Amino acid sequence: MESVQPCILASLPHVARYLTFAIKPDCRPRETLAVLARVFEQNSTVVGLGSPLVTTFGGNVKGLRTFPPYSGSGFTVPSTPAALWVWLRGEDRGELVHRARSLTRTVSPAFFVENVIDAFQYGPSLDLTGYEDGTENPRDDKALEVAVVTKMGEGLDGSSFVAVQQWVHDLDHFEMMTGDEQDQIIGRRKRDNKEIEEAPLSAHIKRTAQESFMPHAFVLRRSMPWADKNRAGLVFTAFGKSLDAFDALLRRMVGAEDGVVDSLFRFTRPISGSYFWCPPVRDGALDLRALLQK
Ligand code: HEM
Repeated sequence: MESVQPCILASLPHVARYLTFAIKPDCRPRETLAVLARVFEQNSTVVGLGSPLVTTFGGNVKGLRTFPPYSGSGFTVPSTPAALWVWLRGEDRGELVHRARSLTRTVSPAFFVENVIDAFQYGPSLDLTGYEDGTENPRDDKALEVAVVTKMGEGLDGSSFVAVQQWVHDLDHFEMMTGDEQDQIIGRRKRDNKEIEEAPLSAHIKRTAQESFMPHAFVLRRSMPWADKNRAGLVFTAFGKSLDAFDALLRRMVGAEDGVVDSLFRFTRPISGSYFWCPPVRDGALDLRALLQK
């Protein structure tokens, strides 16, 4: 589909930098957003707009909402709304630093940086625990069907919604567990990526089995490992034609349905959680018409 931001569907880059921005007090983001829409580089960038920004336009992006917070025994899932999210993708970390500087300057009349995360690929699409991430992702036409809005009208068709969470792993704790215990947490065997049929209900892939939901809860995951000087984890990223599938998956992970909490929480925790709407592309620029329609 020509109007979806192409990097949503493309395979993962070697390195990436995620930037989130807040709106500066007492400013009008409209002009700045128009500039961003024009300088947007579709082959190396994904841009998402959060509800703090979309609501300033008075326009309506149906389906965009605020990330729901959860807490339970021993875990919290925070909601950290942000105005603007940019996923810069590349092959060269130095080049990303310069692109991030340039982008920050471009949007500086209306936005300030709230968070920057440096991410990278680990082996063949591995999470830092060593498990392959993305095995059950929809591909080709199914990926389009899952991730891209259709039949909603001009300005919305071709767009996508994304849920983003920064997870911090306790890798020391994870490494203290036996290989079998680790496999039971994920529900797959690290050594050959085979599903473990008899894994407990709390195993991650038992919680999130996309076809076990009604309707099916398929998402297009594009997560990447990240690290800073003393922490590491996963930037979890799930694109969808709506946020409903992610909502359903997360509700089941936190035990909201049946009281069974995902075993992932035994070694990792999210420190952020935000929803964004990724506008479509028209003539190489971000198509912001949906923001301007009442
Ligand atoms: C630190 C956080 C997470 C880690 C390390 C992680 C890791 C994994 C791994 C290793 C798999 C198995 C291979 C695969 O199919 O990709 C998997 C599957 C999956 N995960 Fe996660 N995941 C995390 C968070 C989440 C979250 C927050 C959600 C959604 C709310 C989610 C949704 C899924 C789904 C839908 C599958 C495929 C299940 C299926 O249909 O078989 N994951 N994850």
